Amino acid sequence: MEAWGGESIVILDFGSQYTQLIARRIREQKVFSVILPPRATIAEIREQRPAGVILSGGPASVTDRGAPTLDTGVFSLGVPVLGICYGLHLITVTGGGEVEKADRREYGHTVIAVERESDLFHETPAEQRVWMSHGDRAKKLPDGFSVTATSAEGVPAAMENPAKRVFALQFHPEVYHTAYGAEIIHNFLFRVCRCKPNWNSGSFVDREVEKIRNLVGGDRVLCAVSGGVDSSVMACLVDRAIGKQLVPVFVDNGLLRLHEAEEVKELLSQHLTTDLVFVDASEMFLGRLEGVVDAEKKRKIIGASFIDVFEEQSRIHGPFAFLAQGTLYPDVIESRSTVGPSATIKSHHNVGGLPDTLNFKLIEPLDLLFKDEVREVGRYLGLPDRSVKRHPFPGPGLAVRIPGAVTREDLDLLRRVDRIFIDALLREGLYDSVWQAFAVLLPVRSVGVMGDERTYQRSAVLRAVTSLDGMTADWARLPYEFLQQVSTDVINKVHGVNRVVYDISSKPPSTIEWE
Ligand code: XMP
Repeated sequence: MEAWGGESIVILDFGSQYTQLIARRIREQKVFSVILPPRATIAEIREQRPAGVILSGGPASVTDRGAPTLDTGVFSLGVPVLGICYGLHLITVTGGGEVEKADRREYGHTVIAVERESDLFHETPAEQRVWMSHGDRAKKLPDGFSVTATSAEGVPAAMENPAKRVFALQFHPEVYHTAYGAEIIHNFLFRVCRCKPNWNSGSFVDREVEKIRNLVGGDRVLCAVSGGVDSSVMACLVDRAIGKQLVPVFVDNGLLRLHEAEEVKELLSQHLTTDLVFVDASEMFLGRLEGVVDAEKKRKIIGASFIDVFEEQSRIHGPFAFLAQGTLYPDVIESRSTVGPSATIKSHHNVGGLPDTLNFKLIEPLDLLFKDEVREVGRYLGLPDRSVKRHPFPGPGLAVRIPGAVTREDLDLLRRVDRIFIDALLREGLYDSVWQAFAVLLPVRSVGVMGDERTYQRSAVLRAVTSLDGMTADWARLPYEFLQQVSTDVINKVHGVNRVVYDISSKPPSTIEWE
Protein backbone atom coordinates (compact mmCIF):
# COMPACT_ATOMS: atom_id res chain seq x y z
CA MET A 1 0.00 0.00 0.00
CA GLU A 2 1.33 3.39 -0.94
CA ALA A 3 0.45 6.93 -0.01
CA TRP A 4 -2.25 8.36 -2.24
CA GLY A 5 -0.18 11.42 -3.03
CA GLY A 6 -2.15 14.22 -1.38
CA GLU A 7 -2.28 15.38 2.22
CA SER A 8 -3.77 13.03 4.76
CA ILE A 9 -4.75 12.59 8.36
CA VAL A 10 -2.72 9.73 9.82
CA ILE A 11 -4.53 7.60 12.39
CA LEU A 12 -2.32 5.49 14.62
CA ASP A 13 -4.38 2.42 15.48
CA PHE A 14 -4.16 1.30 19.08
CA GLY A 15 -6.74 -1.40 18.44
CA SER A 16 -10.08 0.32 18.99
CA GLN A 17 -13.15 -1.23 17.42
CA TYR A 18 -13.86 2.28 16.14
CA THR A 19 -10.59 2.96 14.31
CA GLN A 20 -12.02 2.31 10.84
CA LEU A 21 -14.95 4.52 11.76
CA ILE A 22 -12.59 7.42 12.50
CA ALA A 23 -11.07 6.99 9.04
CA ARG A 24 -14.48 6.92 7.40
CA ARG A 25 -15.79 9.95 9.24
CA ILE A 26 -12.77 11.93 8.07
CA ARG A 27 -13.14 10.79 4.49
CA GLU A 28 -16.83 11.69 4.56
CA GLN A 29 -15.59 15.25 5.02
CA LYS A 30 -13.49 14.87 1.86
CA VAL A 31 -10.14 14.60 3.59
CA PHE A 32 -8.05 11.50 3.01
CA SER A 33 -7.18 9.45 6.08
CA VAL A 34 -4.90 6.50 6.50
CA ILE A 35 -4.60 3.98 9.33
CA LEU A 36 -1.11 2.96 10.42
CA PRO A 37 -0.01 0.58 13.16
CA PRO A 38 1.32 2.31 16.29
CA ARG A 39 4.79 0.97 15.58
CA ALA A 40 4.90 2.93 12.27
CA THR A 41 8.11 4.92 12.09
CA ILE A 42 8.16 8.69 11.91
CA ALA A 43 9.48 8.35 8.35
CA GLU A 44 6.49 6.18 7.41
CA ILE A 45 4.14 8.73 8.91
CA ARG A 46 5.84 11.52 6.97
CA GLU A 47 5.45 9.59 3.72
CA GLN A 48 1.70 10.01 4.08
CA ARG A 49 2.07 13.80 4.02
CA PRO A 50 0.15 14.23 7.28
CA ALA A 51 -1.79 17.40 7.95
CA GLY A 52 -2.58 15.99 11.38
CA VAL A 53 -2.22 12.83 13.45
CA ILE A 54 -4.95 11.05 15.41
CA LEU A 55 -4.18 8.58 18.17
CA SER A 56 -7.06 6.11 18.29
CA GLY A 57 -8.68 4.46 21.27
CA GLY A 58 -7.77 0.94 22.25
CA PRO A 59 -8.63 -1.90 24.60
CA ALA A 60 -5.45 -1.64 26.70
CA SER A 61 -4.83 0.51 29.74
CA VAL A 62 -1.74 2.70 29.75
CA THR A 63 -1.31 1.58 33.35
CA ASP A 64 -0.77 -2.05 32.23
CA ARG A 65 2.64 -3.44 31.58
CA GLY A 66 3.19 -4.08 27.87
CA ALA A 67 0.50 -1.58 26.83
CA PRO A 68 1.22 -0.11 23.38
CA THR A 69 3.26 3.04 23.47
CA LEU A 70 3.77 6.07 21.33
CA ASP A 71 6.85 7.38 19.56
CA THR A 72 6.86 10.91 20.96
CA GLY A 73 8.40 12.00 17.65
CA VAL A 74 4.80 12.50 16.47
CA PHE A 75 4.70 15.67 18.57
CA SER A 76 7.63 17.04 16.59
CA LEU A 77 6.16 16.47 13.13
CA GLY A 78 4.94 20.05 13.13
CA VAL A 79 1.29 19.04 12.70
CA PRO A 80 -1.61 18.96 15.18
CA VAL A 81 -2.24 15.79 17.18
CA LEU A 82 -5.61 14.58 18.48
CA GLY A 83 -5.84 11.75 20.98
CA ILE A 84 -9.09 9.86 21.44
CA CYS A 85 -9.70 7.87 24.66
CA TYR A 86 -6.58 5.66 24.88
CA GLY A 87 -4.93 8.39 22.79
CA LEU A 88 -5.77 10.90 25.54
CA HIS A 89 -4.20 8.63 28.14
CA LEU A 90 -1.06 8.29 26.02
CA ILE A 91 -0.77 12.04 25.60
CA THR A 92 -1.19 12.37 29.35
CA VAL A 93 1.51 9.91 30.38
CA THR A 94 4.01 10.83 27.67
CA GLY A 95 3.64 14.49 28.69
CA GLY A 96 4.39 13.76 32.34
CA GLY A 97 0.80 13.63 33.60
CA GLU A 98 -0.93 10.77 35.39
CA VAL A 99 -3.68 8.34 34.48
CA GLU A 100 -5.67 6.41 37.06
CA LYS A 101 -8.15 3.59 36.81
CA ALA A 102 -11.63 4.99 37.45
CA ASP A 103 -13.77 3.43 40.22
CA ARG A 104 -16.24 2.43 37.65
CA ARG A 105 -16.19 2.19 33.90
CA GLU A 106 -17.93 4.98 32.06
CA TYR A 107 -19.69 3.42 29.13
CA GLY A 108 -22.44 4.77 26.90
CA HIS A 109 -24.07 8.19 26.79
CA THR A 110 -23.02 11.02 29.02
CA VAL A 111 -23.39 14.76 28.89
CA ILE A 112 -20.31 16.94 28.88
CA ALA A 113 -20.00 20.59 29.71
CA VAL A 114 -17.69 22.60 27.47
CA GLU A 115 -15.86 24.94 29.81
CA ARG A 116 -13.52 26.94 27.66
CA GLU A 117 -13.15 28.43 24.28
CA SER A 118 -11.66 25.73 22.10
CA ASP A 119 -11.20 25.34 18.35
CA LEU A 120 -12.40 21.76 18.61
CA PHE A 121 -15.77 22.76 20.07
CA HIS A 122 -16.24 25.79 17.81
CA GLU A 123 -19.94 26.43 17.15
CA THR A 124 -21.11 23.51 19.26
CA PRO A 125 -23.33 23.89 22.37
CA ALA A 126 -22.04 24.33 25.93
CA GLU A 127 -23.66 21.03 26.89
CA GLN A 128 -23.63 18.06 24.56
CA ARG A 129 -24.27 14.33 24.55
CA VAL A 130 -21.26 12.16 23.84
CA TRP A 131 -20.39 8.46 23.74
CA MET A 132 -17.89 7.23 26.32
CA SER A 133 -16.19 3.88 26.57
CA HIS A 134 -13.32 3.81 28.99
CA GLY A 135 -12.06 2.65 32.35
CA ASP A 136 -9.18 5.09 32.84
CA ARG A 137 -9.13 8.84 33.36
CA ALA A 138 -6.58 11.61 33.38
CA LYS A 139 -5.77 12.40 37.00
CA LYS A 140 -3.00 14.92 36.52
CA LEU A 141 -2.76 16.80 33.26
CA PRO A 142 0.59 17.15 31.49
CA ASP A 143 2.27 20.56 31.62
CA GLY A 144 0.77 23.16 29.35
CA PHE A 145 -2.62 21.42 29.12
CA SER A 146 -5.94 22.64 30.38
CA VAL A 147 -9.32 20.94 30.59
CA THR A 148 -11.77 22.20 27.98
CA ALA A 149 -14.75 19.96 28.82
CA THR A 150 -15.84 17.83 31.77
CA SER A 151 -18.17 14.85 31.90
CA ALA A 152 -21.18 14.55 34.22
CA GLU A 153 -19.03 12.21 36.30
CA GLY A 154 -16.45 14.93 36.78
CA VAL A 155 -13.90 13.31 34.47
CA PRO A 156 -11.87 15.52 32.09
CA ALA A 157 -13.71 14.91 28.79
CA ALA A 158 -11.40 17.08 26.71
CA MET A 159 -8.06 18.78 27.21
CA GLU A 160 -5.67 20.68 25.02
CA ASN A 161 -2.40 22.48 24.70
CA PRO A 162 -3.24 25.02 22.01
CA ALA A 163 0.29 26.39 21.81
CA LYS A 164 1.63 22.95 20.89
CA ARG A 165 -1.54 22.11 18.93
CA VAL A 166 -2.16 18.90 20.87
CA PHE A 167 -5.79 18.01 21.65
CA ALA A 168 -7.38 15.07 23.39
CA LEU A 169 -10.88 13.72 23.93
CA GLN A 170 -11.99 11.14 26.45
CA PHE A 171 -15.12 10.38 24.40
CA HIS A 172 -15.56 9.11 20.84
CA PRO A 173 -16.41 11.82 18.26
CA GLU A 174 -16.47 9.18 15.47
CA VAL A 175 -19.50 7.38 16.91
CA TYR A 176 -22.95 8.55 15.75
CA HIS A 177 -24.21 8.68 19.32
CA THR A 178 -21.91 11.65 19.94
CA ALA A 179 -24.29 14.47 19.05
CA TYR A 180 -21.67 16.89 17.67
CA GLY A 181 -19.05 14.34 16.66
CA ALA A 182 -19.08 15.31 12.99
CA GLU A 183 -18.68 19.00 13.93
CA ILE A 184 -15.78 18.22 16.26
CA ILE A 185 -14.04 16.21 13.55
CA HIS A 186 -14.80 18.99 11.08
CA ASN A 187 -13.23 21.54 13.44
CA PHE A 188 -10.14 19.39 13.85
CA LEU A 189 -9.76 18.96 10.10
CA PHE A 190 -10.48 22.46 8.92
CA ARG A 191 -9.91 24.85 11.85
CA VAL A 192 -7.00 23.07 13.50
CA CYS A 193 -5.25 21.18 10.67
CA ARG A 194 -6.33 23.55 7.88
CA CYS A 195 -6.99 20.66 5.53
CA LYS A 196 -8.40 21.12 2.06
CA PRO A 197 -11.48 19.03 1.22
CA ASN A 198 -10.08 17.47 -1.93
CA TRP A 199 -10.58 13.74 -1.42
CA ASN A 200 -13.29 12.65 -3.82
CA SER A 201 -13.88 10.12 -6.56
CA GLY A 202 -12.64 12.46 -9.28
CA SER A 203 -9.33 13.24 -7.60
CA PHE A 204 -8.90 9.57 -6.67
CA VAL A 205 -9.52 8.35 -10.21
CA ASP A 206 -7.22 10.98 -11.77
CA ARG A 207 -4.35 10.07 -9.49
CA GLU A 208 -4.86 6.31 -9.79
CA VAL A 209 -5.04 6.45 -13.56
CA GLU A 210 -1.77 8.34 -13.67
CA LYS A 211 -0.14 5.97 -11.17
CA ILE A 212 -1.25 2.87 -13.07
CA ARG A 213 0.00 4.29 -16.37
CA ASN A 214 3.39 5.12 -14.90
CA LEU A 215 3.68 1.74 -13.25
CA VAL A 216 2.57 -0.40 -16.16
CA GLY A 217 4.29 1.41 -19.01
CA GLY A 218 3.89 -0.70 -22.12
CA ASP A 219 3.28 -3.99 -20.25
CA ARG A 220 0.10 -6.01 -20.16
CA VAL A 221 -2.18 -6.62 -17.19
CA LEU A 222 -4.41 -9.60 -16.43
CA CYS A 223 -7.39 -9.52 -14.10
CA ALA A 224 -10.32 -11.69 -13.08
CA VAL A 225 -13.78 -10.16 -13.04
CA SER A 226 -16.81 -11.68 -11.36
CA GLY A 227 -19.45 -9.05 -11.88
CA GLY A 228 -19.17 -8.08 -8.20
CA VAL A 229 -18.72 -4.42 -7.27
CA ASP A 230 -15.04 -4.59 -6.37
CA SER A 231 -13.75 -6.39 -9.44
CA SER A 232 -16.01 -4.38 -11.78
CA VAL A 233 -14.84 -1.04 -10.40
CA MET A 234 -11.22 -2.21 -10.38
CA ALA A 235 -11.44 -3.35 -14.02
CA CYS A 236 -13.09 -0.09 -15.14
CA LEU A 237 -10.42 1.95 -13.40
CA VAL A 238 -7.50 0.01 -14.87
CA ASP A 239 -9.26 0.04 -18.23
CA ARG A 240 -9.46 3.81 -18.05
CA ALA A 241 -5.72 3.93 -17.42
CA ILE A 242 -4.42 1.45 -19.98
CA GLY A 243 -7.33 0.29 -22.17
CA LYS A 244 -6.41 -2.68 -24.32
CA GLN A 245 -3.29 -3.52 -22.33
CA LEU A 246 -5.76 -4.93 -19.79
CA VAL A 247 -7.18 -8.43 -20.30
CA PRO A 248 -10.17 -9.05 -18.01
CA VAL A 249 -11.23 -12.69 -17.69
CA PHE A 250 -14.70 -13.77 -16.63
CA VAL A 251 -15.16 -17.43 -15.74
CA ASP A 252 -18.60 -19.04 -15.87
CA ASN A 253 -18.22 -21.86 -13.36
CA GLY A 254 -21.76 -23.15 -13.80
CA LEU A 255 -22.57 -22.02 -10.26
CA LEU A 256 -23.89 -18.57 -11.09
CA ARG A 257 -27.38 -17.20 -10.68
CA LEU A 258 -30.02 -17.23 -13.42
CA HIS A 259 -28.75 -15.37 -16.55
CA GLU A 260 -25.90 -13.93 -14.47
CA ALA A 261 -23.12 -14.83 -16.89
CA GLU A 262 -24.85 -13.12 -19.83
CA GLU A 263 -25.77 -10.08 -17.73
CA VAL A 264 -22.24 -9.57 -16.47
CA LYS A 265 -20.84 -10.09 -19.94
CA GLU A 266 -23.17 -7.48 -21.38
CA LEU A 267 -22.61 -4.98 -18.60
CA LEU A 268 -18.83 -5.17 -18.64
CA SER A 269 -18.67 -5.13 -22.40
CA GLN A 270 -20.57 -1.85 -22.31
CA HIS A 271 -18.26 -0.27 -19.75
CA LEU A 272 -14.84 -1.48 -20.79
CA THR A 273 -12.95 -0.35 -23.85
CA THR A 274 -10.89 -3.53 -23.81
CA ASP A 275 -12.40 -6.89 -24.76
CA LEU A 276 -13.68 -9.22 -22.08
CA VAL A 277 -12.42 -12.79 -22.24
CA PHE A 278 -15.41 -14.97 -21.44
CA VAL A 279 -14.66 -18.55 -20.46
CA ASP A 280 -17.43 -21.10 -20.11
CA ALA A 281 -15.87 -23.66 -17.78
CA SER A 282 -19.13 -24.90 -16.31
CA GLU A 283 -18.69 -28.47 -17.61
CA MET A 284 -15.34 -28.75 -15.89
CA PHE A 285 -16.50 -27.31 -12.55
CA LEU A 286 -19.71 -29.32 -12.39
CA GLY A 287 -17.93 -32.50 -13.49
CA ARG A 288 -15.34 -32.14 -10.73
CA LEU A 289 -18.06 -31.44 -8.16
CA GLU A 290 -20.13 -34.50 -9.01
CA GLY A 291 -20.99 -36.50 -5.89
CA VAL A 292 -18.92 -34.25 -3.59
CA VAL A 293 -20.85 -33.67 -0.36
CA ASP A 294 -18.43 -31.98 2.01
CA ALA A 295 -18.62 -28.16 1.94
CA GLU A 296 -14.91 -27.52 2.40
CA LYS A 297 -14.09 -30.08 -0.32
CA LYS A 298 -16.46 -28.31 -2.66
CA ARG A 299 -14.75 -25.00 -1.88
CA LYS A 300 -11.30 -26.48 -2.50
CA ILE A 301 -12.33 -28.04 -5.81
CA ILE A 302 -13.87 -24.79 -6.98
CA GLY A 303 -10.81 -22.78 -5.89
CA ALA A 304 -8.39 -25.16 -7.60
CA SER A 305 -10.48 -25.29 -10.78
CA PHE A 306 -10.58 -21.52 -10.92
CA ILE A 307 -6.82 -21.39 -10.73
CA ASP A 308 -6.51 -24.01 -13.50
CA VAL A 309 -8.76 -22.00 -15.78
CA PHE A 310 -6.99 -18.77 -14.95
CA GLU A 311 -3.53 -20.21 -15.55
CA GLU A 312 -4.61 -21.53 -18.90
CA GLN A 313 -6.04 -18.16 -19.88
CA SER A 314 -2.88 -16.40 -18.80
CA ARG A 315 -0.90 -18.72 -21.10
CA ILE A 316 -3.28 -18.20 -24.00
CA HIS A 317 -3.45 -14.41 -23.73
CA GLY A 318 -0.07 -13.72 -22.09
CA PRO A 319 2.61 -12.85 -21.33
CA PHE A 320 1.51 -10.57 -18.51
CA ALA A 321 3.71 -8.58 -16.17
CA PHE A 322 0.91 -7.56 -13.81
CA LEU A 323 -2.16 -8.93 -12.12
CA ALA A 324 -4.83 -6.44 -11.01
CA GLN A 325 -7.00 -7.27 -8.01
CA GLY A 326 -9.92 -5.58 -6.26
CA THR A 327 -8.51 -5.75 -2.72
CA LEU A 328 -10.15 -3.20 -0.41
CA TYR A 329 -8.78 -1.19 2.50
CA PRO A 330 -10.42 -3.23 5.31
CA ASP A 331 -8.62 -6.33 3.97
CA VAL A 332 -5.33 -4.46 4.05
CA ILE A 333 -5.93 -3.25 7.60
CA GLU A 334 -7.03 -6.69 8.80
CA SER A 335 -4.10 -8.51 7.27
CA ARG A 336 -1.70 -6.08 8.95
CA SER A 337 -2.27 -6.89 12.57
CA THR A 338 -1.95 -3.98 14.95
CA VAL A 339 -2.11 -4.43 18.67
CA GLY A 340 -4.69 -6.95 19.85
CA PRO A 341 -6.78 -7.54 16.74
CA SER A 342 -10.12 -5.73 16.86
CA ALA A 343 -12.56 -8.68 17.02
CA THR A 344 -12.21 -10.41 13.68
CA ILE A 345 -14.87 -13.04 13.19
CA LYS A 346 -14.83 -13.47 9.43
CA SER A 347 -12.74 -16.33 8.14
CA HIS A 348 -11.31 -15.46 4.80
CA HIS A 349 -12.46 -18.03 2.34
CA ASN A 350 -11.73 -16.17 -0.79
CA VAL A 351 -12.05 -18.65 -3.58
CA GLY A 352 -11.07 -16.02 -6.13
CA GLY A 353 -7.57 -15.92 -4.58
CA LEU A 354 -4.67 -16.71 -6.85
CA PRO A 355 -1.46 -18.58 -6.02
CA ASP A 356 1.88 -16.79 -5.77
CA THR A 357 3.30 -19.12 -8.41
CA LEU A 358 1.69 -17.05 -11.13
CA ASN A 359 4.52 -14.65 -10.46
CA PHE A 360 2.85 -11.41 -11.38
CA LYS A 361 3.44 -8.03 -9.92
CA LEU A 362 0.25 -6.92 -8.18
CA ILE A 363 -1.83 -3.83 -8.89
CA GLU A 364 -4.45 -3.19 -6.24
CA PRO A 365 -5.90 0.20 -7.12
CA LEU A 366 -8.73 0.03 -4.56
CA ASP A 367 -6.56 -0.89 -1.61
CA LEU A 368 -7.08 2.51 0.02
CA LEU A 369 -10.87 2.50 -0.26
CA PHE A 370 -13.76 1.47 1.93
CA LYS A 371 -16.68 -0.30 0.28
CA ASP A 372 -18.90 2.79 0.12
CA GLU A 373 -16.05 4.70 -1.54
CA VAL A 374 -15.66 1.90 -4.10
CA ARG A 375 -19.34 2.27 -4.92
CA GLU A 376 -18.90 6.02 -5.36
CA VAL A 377 -15.91 5.54 -7.63
CA GLY A 378 -17.97 3.01 -9.61
CA ARG A 379 -20.72 5.57 -10.07
CA TYR A 380 -18.17 8.19 -11.08
CA LEU A 381 -16.84 5.77 -13.70
CA GLY A 382 -20.35 5.40 -15.07
CA LEU A 383 -21.31 1.98 -13.72
CA PRO A 384 -25.07 1.67 -13.20
CA ASP A 385 -26.76 1.17 -9.82
CA ARG A 386 -27.46 -2.49 -10.51
CA SER A 387 -23.71 -2.97 -10.59
CA VAL A 388 -22.53 -0.71 -7.76
CA LYS A 389 -25.33 -1.68 -5.38
CA ARG A 390 -25.10 -5.38 -6.07
CA HIS A 391 -25.18 -7.73 -3.09
CA PRO A 392 -22.00 -9.71 -2.38
CA PHE A 393 -21.93 -13.17 -3.92
CA PRO A 394 -19.57 -15.89 -2.68
CA GLY A 395 -16.79 -17.17 -4.94
CA PRO A 396 -18.09 -20.78 -4.79
CA GLY A 397 -21.48 -19.44 -5.84
CA LEU A 398 -24.57 -21.60 -5.63
CA ALA A 399 -22.48 -24.61 -4.59
CA VAL A 400 -22.57 -23.35 -0.99
CA ARG A 401 -26.32 -22.78 -1.23
CA ILE A 402 -27.09 -26.43 -1.98
CA PRO A 403 -26.03 -28.35 1.12
CA GLY A 404 -24.54 -31.67 -0.01
CA ALA A 405 -23.83 -32.78 -3.57
CA VAL A 406 -24.53 -30.29 -6.37
CA THR A 407 -26.56 -31.44 -9.37
CA ARG A 408 -27.70 -29.56 -12.45
CA GLU A 409 -31.34 -30.19 -11.55
CA ASP A 410 -30.90 -28.68 -8.11
CA LEU A 411 -29.00 -25.73 -9.54
CA ASP A 412 -31.88 -25.14 -11.88
CA LEU A 413 -34.44 -25.26 -9.05
CA LEU A 414 -32.38 -22.99 -6.84
CA ARG A 415 -31.83 -20.45 -9.62
CA ARG A 416 -35.54 -20.11 -10.18
CA VAL A 417 -36.35 -19.68 -6.48
CA ASP A 418 -33.52 -17.18 -6.06
CA ARG A 419 -34.67 -15.16 -9.06
CA ILE A 420 -38.24 -14.89 -7.78
CA PHE A 421 -36.96 -13.68 -4.40
CA ILE A 422 -34.48 -11.15 -5.79
CA ASP A 423 -36.91 -9.82 -8.39
CA ALA A 424 -39.51 -9.31 -5.67
CA LEU A 425 -37.02 -7.44 -3.50
CA LEU A 426 -36.13 -5.19 -6.42
CA ARG A 427 -39.76 -4.65 -7.36
CA GLU A 428 -40.76 -3.71 -3.81
CA GLY A 429 -37.78 -1.41 -3.31
CA LEU A 430 -36.35 -3.65 -0.58
CA TYR A 431 -33.19 -4.82 -2.34
CA ASP A 432 -31.02 -1.91 -1.14
CA SER A 433 -32.26 -2.23 2.44
CA VAL A 434 -30.48 -5.55 2.91
CA TRP A 435 -26.80 -6.45 2.75
CA GLN A 436 -27.40 -9.74 1.02
CA ALA A 437 -30.40 -11.86 0.06
CA PHE A 438 -30.56 -15.27 -1.55
CA ALA A 439 -32.24 -18.65 -1.53
CA VAL A 440 -30.90 -22.00 -0.33
CA LEU A 441 -32.18 -25.36 -1.56
CA LEU A 442 -32.38 -27.94 1.20
CA PRO A 443 -31.80 -31.64 0.59
CA VAL A 444 -35.04 -32.30 2.50
CA ARG A 445 -38.37 -33.36 1.10
CA SER A 446 -41.63 -32.71 2.88
CA VAL A 447 -45.27 -33.49 2.30
CA GLY A 448 -47.67 -31.00 0.83
CA VAL A 449 -51.01 -30.86 -0.96
CA MET A 450 -51.57 -29.17 -4.27
CA GLY A 451 -55.09 -29.38 -5.59
CA ASP A 452 -56.18 -32.89 -4.70
CA GLU A 453 -52.72 -34.30 -4.89
CA ARG A 454 -50.27 -35.12 -2.24
CA THR A 455 -46.80 -33.80 -3.05
CA TYR A 456 -43.46 -34.82 -1.71
CA GLN A 457 -41.03 -32.14 -2.72
CA ARG A 458 -38.06 -30.01 -1.73
CA SER A 459 -37.85 -27.12 0.73
CA ALA A 460 -36.27 -23.78 -0.04
CA VAL A 461 -34.92 -21.26 2.45
CA LEU A 462 -35.06 -17.53 1.94
CA ARG A 463 -32.19 -15.70 3.62
CA ALA A 464 -31.89 -11.92 3.87
CA VAL A 465 -29.54 -10.16 6.27
CA THR A 466 -28.58 -6.67 7.26
CA SER A 467 -24.92 -6.02 7.94
CA LEU A 468 -22.22 -3.38 7.71
CA ASP A 469 -19.38 -5.56 6.52
CA GLY A 470 -20.48 -9.19 6.53
CA MET A 471 -18.58 -9.90 9.74
CA THR A 472 -21.69 -9.77 11.86
CA ALA A 473 -25.21 -9.81 10.51
CA ASP A 474 -28.82 -9.77 11.60
CA TRP A 475 -31.75 -11.35 9.77
CA ALA A 476 -33.72 -8.76 7.87
CA ARG A 477 -37.20 -7.99 9.17
CA LEU A 478 -38.88 -8.21 5.76
CA PRO A 479 -42.64 -7.55 5.84
CA TYR A 480 -44.82 -10.65 6.38
CA GLU A 481 -46.97 -9.83 3.36
CA PHE A 482 -43.88 -9.66 1.21
CA LEU A 483 -42.60 -13.01 2.45
CA GLN A 484 -46.00 -14.54 1.96
CA GLN A 485 -46.13 -13.33 -1.65
CA VAL A 486 -42.66 -14.70 -2.41
CA SER A 487 -43.57 -18.03 -0.82
CA THR A 488 -46.74 -18.28 -2.88
CA ASP A 489 -44.92 -17.36 -6.08
CA VAL A 490 -42.14 -19.87 -5.46
CA ILE A 491 -44.48 -22.76 -4.70
CA ASN A 492 -46.76 -21.94 -7.62
CA LYS A 493 -44.04 -21.39 -10.16
CA VAL A 494 -41.16 -23.65 -9.22
CA HIS A 495 -42.32 -27.18 -9.71
CA GLY A 496 -40.36 -29.35 -7.30
CA VAL A 497 -40.48 -26.98 -4.30
CA ASN A 498 -43.52 -27.21 -2.00
CA ARG A 499 -42.25 -25.47 1.12
CA VAL A 500 -40.56 -22.13 1.76
CA VAL A 501 -39.01 -21.15 5.08
CA TYR A 502 -37.41 -17.88 6.20
CA ASP A 503 -34.09 -18.01 8.02
CA ILE A 504 -34.23 -15.96 11.25
CA SER A 505 -30.69 -16.63 12.51
CA SER A 506 -28.13 -13.93 13.17
CA LYS A 507 -24.37 -14.06 12.73
CA PRO A 508 -22.93 -15.00 15.13
CA PRO A 509 -23.74 -17.71 16.07
CA SER A 510 -24.91 -18.65 12.56
CA THR A 511 -23.14 -17.58 9.38
CA ILE A 512 -24.65 -15.79 6.42
CA GLU A 513 -24.23 -18.69 4.01
CA TRP A 514 -25.47 -22.18 4.85
CA GLU A 515 -22.19 -23.88 4.09
P1 XMP B 1 -20.38 -16.19 6.05
O1 XMP B 1 -21.21 -17.27 5.44
O2 XMP B 1 -19.02 -16.65 6.46
O3 XMP B 1 -20.14 -15.14 4.89
O4 XMP B 1 -21.11 -15.47 7.14
C1 XMP B 1 -19.66 -13.83 5.04
C2 XMP B 1 -19.61 -13.20 3.66
O5 XMP B 1 -18.66 -13.90 2.86
C3 XMP B 1 -19.29 -14.50 1.73
N1 XMP B 1 -18.72 -15.83 1.57
C4 XMP B 1 -17.76 -16.12 0.68
N2 XMP B 1 -17.11 -15.35 -0.22
N3 XMP B 1 -15.87 -17.20 -0.92
C5 XMP B 1 -16.18 -15.91 -1.04
O6 XMP B 1 -15.62 -15.23 -1.89
C6 XMP B 1 -16.46 -18.06 -0.05
O7 XMP B 1 -16.14 -19.23 0.02
C7 XMP B 1 -17.46 -17.47 0.80
N4 XMP B 1 -18.26 -17.98 1.78
C8 XMP B 1 -19.01 -16.94 2.25
C9 XMP B 1 -20.77 -14.55 2.07
O8 XMP B 1 -21.58 -14.56 0.90
C10 XMP B 1 -20.94 -13.31 2.90
O9 XMP B 1 -21.06 -12.16 2.09
